[in-house]
Amino acid sequence: MQPLRRIDQILASLGYGSRREVRKFVADGRVTVAGVVQDDPGGKAEPASVQLDDAPLEFPEGIFVILHKPAGCVCSRDLREGRRIYDLLPPRWLQRGPAVTSIGRLDRDTTGVLLVTDNHALVHRLTSPRHHVDKVYQATLDRAPEPRLVDELASGTLRLAGEDKPCAAAQLVLRGGAEVEITVHEGRFHQVKRMFAHFGYEVCRLHRSRLGDYTLGDLSAGQWRALVPPG
Ligand code: URA
Repeated sequence: MQPLRRIDQILASLGYGSRREVRKFVADGRVTVAGVVQDDPGGKAEPASVQLDDAPLEFPEGIFVILHKPAGCVCSRDLREGRRIYDLLPPRWLQRGPAVTSIGRLDRDTTGVLLVTDNHALVHRLTSPRHHVDKVYQATLDRAPEPRLVDELASGTLRLAGEDKPCAAAQLVLRGGAEVEITVHEGRFHQVKRMFAHFGYEVCRLHRSRLGDYTLGDLSAGQWRALVPPG
């Protein structure tokens, strides 16, 4: 059972309107708790038991979803950056508090697994280097890599330009031609592209196929599905 909270606070924090607007919903008899019409916006309820216009509230216990990020959209919220991942999600989510955010970021041209949540403890858990969450990428380079890269990347000695601390060991699988799979355990800025740039290769296509235990399954680009948060 979730803690009891004020009805107006529940509706406003889940993005249904300002405090003033959601109080009006209550005054208009549109809000029920366990099926009973409410007249006090300050009354306490469990979020999952509240309904507006006879419909349950969206994700009353928090958001945790996997999105198949398409190329061409950014993980930022800034409208000036063009199409955003948030434009692929229900608009109400941008009105929620705590804020909905991606767990780490992918570059505009990178596709694949992106987790989105309003649970900031989970963000920390899945992005902190201490928790060693694997990130698996499929990449196409500008040419076939030299086999020595496998050992170089596994050595844990690679220093990215402008950084003192070497990258943790990464596992590289040569897939034939310019195709590779690389598993990294950190989330540094442009990490995969910079790792290959260090050896003089350009990443022409980058797709994240797994983050921790999470894979896309049959999600097509631009689609998302709800996940059960880890216990
Ligand atoms: N590494 C990159 O260089 N870019 C991404 O989007 C993800 C990992």
